Amino acid sequence: MEKRDLIYEGKAKKVYATDDPANLIVCYKDDATAFDGMKKGIICGKGAVNNRMSNYLMQKLSEKGIPTHFFEELNDRETLVRKVAIIPLEIIVRNISAGHFSSRYGVEEGIVFDTPVVEFSYKNDELHDPLLNDDHAVALKLASRKEIELIRSYALRINECLKEILSEAGITLVDFKLEFGKTDDGSLILADEISPDTCRFWDSMTGEKLDKDRFRRDLGNVEDAYLEMQRRLLGE
Ligand code: TMP
Ligand code: ASP
Repeated sequence: MEKRDLIYEGKAKKVYATDDPANLIVCYKDDATAFDGMKKGIICGKGAVNNRMSNYLMQKLSEKGIPTHFFEELNDRETLVRKVAIIPLEIIVRNISAGHFSSRYGVEEGIVFDTPVVEFSYKNDELHDPLLNDDHAVALKLASRKEIELIRSYALRINECLKEILSEAGITLVDFKLEFGKTDDGSLILADEISPDTCRFWDSMTGEKLDKDRFRRDLGNVEDAYLEMQRRLLGE
């Protein structure tokens, strides 16, 4: 597979074309941002951790029947993925109150919900990713009602799979963000990444935060948290 032009550079990843129009190469960076890019930094080694962890989890999900963009891990930071048109929705699943749920609704962090909360945001940095509901998403033609229903059911199944994998590693899955995309033939598949950048992971015994909140909130030991998550899930 030949790597060709850089076609997109996001806050945490670069995307390259390949000689196959159906595939792209994603390259994970060490750059970290928070608060719509207002806060910037570097988390050394993050790119490699996120690449490998995301690939591991996507392969596990695919074994459970969730279609994903994962194709082949090329090296520490680069992965061959199926090309999709990203649906500009951020799908957030929450099991425990934290982050924006707590600040928006004025509740403490750590309240365990009876059932998961699925939330949609419009992926648009200029507008600060506003929260929206199904009707808004359909009105804005971001996705059809049928697609939104499918996304919701995938998101809940993904939550169950991830919770199980993580609990075996002594990690509580607090919440996470997903993005889906559409292939040229119109099928909906999981895209983007599943990593400490996009999830909240708490140590099940101590409650210690092992995710990007350490960077967002200046908690220190940021690199260590990413490496600890890698060790727990990939054993190295
Ligand atoms: P929130 O509580 O800030 O809304 O975050 C919910 C989850 O989504 C959390 O696991 C972190 C993740 N997330 C992203 O992946 N990207 C983002 O831009 C934001 C704000 C959150
Ligand atoms: N990725 C987001 C940004 O910079 C924020 C976050 O993950 O908190 O803007």
